Amino acid sequence: MNPVIYVTRKIPEEVLQPYQNMFNFRMWDKEDVPVPRDVLLKEAATADGVLCLLTENIDREFFDYAKNLKIVANMAVGFDNIDVEAAREHGVVVTNTPDVLTETTADLTFALLMATARRIVEAADYIREDKWQYWAPYLLAGSDVHGKTIGIVGMGRIGEAVARRARGFGMSILYHNRSRQEKAEQELGAVYSDFTDLLQKADFVVSLVPLTEQTAKMFDRDAFNNMKSSAIFINVSRGGTVDEEALYDALAANEIQAAGLDVFANEPISSEHQLLELDNVVCLPHIGSASEATRTKMLELCLDNLKAVLNGEEAITPVK
Ligand code: DGY
Repeated sequence: MNPVIYVTRKIPEEVLQPYQNMFNFRMWDKEDVPVPRDVLLKEAATADGVLCLLTENIDREFFDYAKNLKIVANMAVGFDNIDVEAAREHGVVVTNTPDVLTETTADLTFALLMATARRIVEAADYIREDKWQYWAPYLLAGSDVHGKTIGIVGMGRIGEAVARRARGFGMSILYHNRSRQEKAEQELGAVYSDFTDLLQKADFVVSLVPLTEQTAKMFDRDAFNNMKSSAIFINVSRGGTVDEEALYDALAANEIQAAGLDVFANEPISSEHQLLELDNVVCLPHIGSASEATRTKMLELCLDNLKAVLNGEEAITPVK
């Protein structure tokens, strides 16, 4: 009998097709709605492997139910939705999807940075709302990107890919990270900086840190106070790294200039979210890695991890 894989969201048949002869797939049948908790636990109880998304809370209770489970393949590079310690104790391998999404996520980070600096969303709405009467010297004037200083907080693979793009724009690059990244320093001219110094000097502060106990709400009132009043804050990591009340207050009081946010503390947000009251915020629905090609590669990497582990081999991209 083939191993049973539970897939927590409806994904295209073509992606599953090459694996149909090795697995017995079961799948939640909705594309846009997460699997209810009770269904997830019931399915986990008999699955050998689970392919899940960041919308699933894969906690200790989940592992207590999942008696046959050998692997959880998370379709994301971030894995703060998974209790990795509980997985280890239950002998379950956890995998994520690094590398395949690096460039796509860096593209979106830069797109959001530019959209926020140059007020692209506001400007496009200006026409849709029929406000454009005349050209004017300072009509929707924003901030330059070229030649400015970017401060990258979290210099992993995506941070480096963002730094490469910044270099193309003639930007000075500061970074803050748990450990020094010598390759980025030598190849990209990135300069290591302590957190406060980076906040004080950067024109664009870009959060790419994973959400951990250490990084939770690291962008707090003090952090926003330390930024320039012309600073633009970009978050493409996890909303939990930001104190959203403090961010709102800093933006509302023009203590910082603007923010571009792809992620939020509690997703999804609605149009009622407090941050959407402000004009100087661009909000996106967590689409960092959302190109069709990359999303397919992420799913394939999950399936290849499932295949490896259930064949008794090492996972390709285990979470350590
Ligand atoms: C990730 O991979 O962690 C992103 O947030 C989803 O692409």
